Amino acid sequence: MTAAERIVDAQPLDGDELERHLRPQRLDDFVGQRQVRENLRVFVDAARARNEALDHVLLFGPPGLGKTTLAQIVARELGANFRATSGPVIAKAGDLAALLTNLEARDVLFIDEIHRLSPAVEEILYPAMEDQQLDLIIGEGPAARSVRIDLPPFTLVGATTRSGLLTTPLRERFGIPLRLNFYEVAELELIVRRGARIFNMNLTDDGAREIARRARGTPRVAGRLLRRVRDFAAMDGAKSIDARATDAALTRLEVDVRGLDAMDRRYLGTIARDFGGGPVGIETIAAALSEPRDALEEIIEPYLIQQGLLQRTPRGRLLTPAAFGHLGLAVPKIGAQLDLMSQAGDDDV
Ligand SMILES: Nc1ncnc2c1ncn2[C@@H]1O[C@H](COP(=O)(O)OP(=O)(O)O)[C@@H](O)[C@H]1O
Ligand SMILES: [Mg+2]
Repeated sequence: MTAAERIVDAQPLDGDELERHLRPQRLDDFVGQRQVRENLRVFVDAARARNEALDHVLLFGPPGLGKTTLAQIVARELGANFRATSGPVIAKAGDLAALLTNLEARDVLFIDEIHRLSPAVEEILYPAMEDQQLDLIIGEGPAARSVRIDLPPFTLVGATTRSGLLTTPLRERFGIPLRLNFYEVAELELIVRRGARIFNMNLTDDGAREIARRARGTPRVAGRLLRRVRDFAAMDGAKSIDARATDAALTRLEVDVRGLDAMDRRYLGTIARDFGGGPVGIETIAAALSEPRDALEEIIEPYLIQQGLLQRTPRGRLLTPAAFGHLGLAVPKIGAQLDLMSQAGDDDV
């Protein structure tokens, strides 16, 4: 199994109709991320009261935590149009210029994966964000001349899995940087219950809790597990879905009691068995697993770190004793491991 095929994968599926139904429409329906929500509430209300565009917003955090959802909510709360694109889609400076010149006053332009903009496109974005101006070069060679176009006031909402991947000048142009964190089980439980109501499922409270506990702290995963559990229950002809039925379904999907799936366990198992628990460099792990480094850093590792199973140290990735425990392996008796753990730092933003 590759990272792209996982049931707990937090990447969106194309044409995922149900996911759209699960999206909360207003800030008040958005569960969790209290600080982010409260900040947005204040800034959105202030912008509305002054009849101004909201300052530019940068949303960052692991996939599936609600970045796209929040961007849409911001536009709706502002009563503004929502235009969406993504970093890799904007190939040329002219593509971005076309998007920008079509904006109306106070519109929200959402750029997903904003860390993947090309440098030439970023150059266009700086004056647009700062001075609402577009500097374009028209023509080539000696006949080339630059023109300046005034843009309407607009709000750029950028989303990225890690703000550390952004160039500094781009990051500095966002007045409102907001970090999304993994959700609490109780919050995911609310999200699962809401989903069950939308799907018309007879899910017991302990069934909802079981899904929430195993959703990797991620609403998108919660929604996906809920749908798979619903499929299994339909197959078994169960009238109501309780913790036992949920557990049976999730076990069949190889999602364990901590929400880790086969890919997570493969990642941990490789470091434990092939590298004595680390420290081992990320490139080495990526090669051993035949997975792109980015996927490991953006999708697999954040949750394992948050769960206290993995540490990023200056000398590489290091498993914690809890990880060995979870894998049912003995902790190797190496003093170096403990030394390193005491100096481990989070080198990521
Ligand atoms: N706070 C939340 N409350 C309820 N559902 C949520 C919440 N955050 C995300 N979701 C759901 O999780 C799924 C993924 O959210 P999305 O905004 O696409 O994540 P991201 O853009 O960060 O990858 C969507 O179906 C969305 O409705
Ligand atoms: Mg998204």
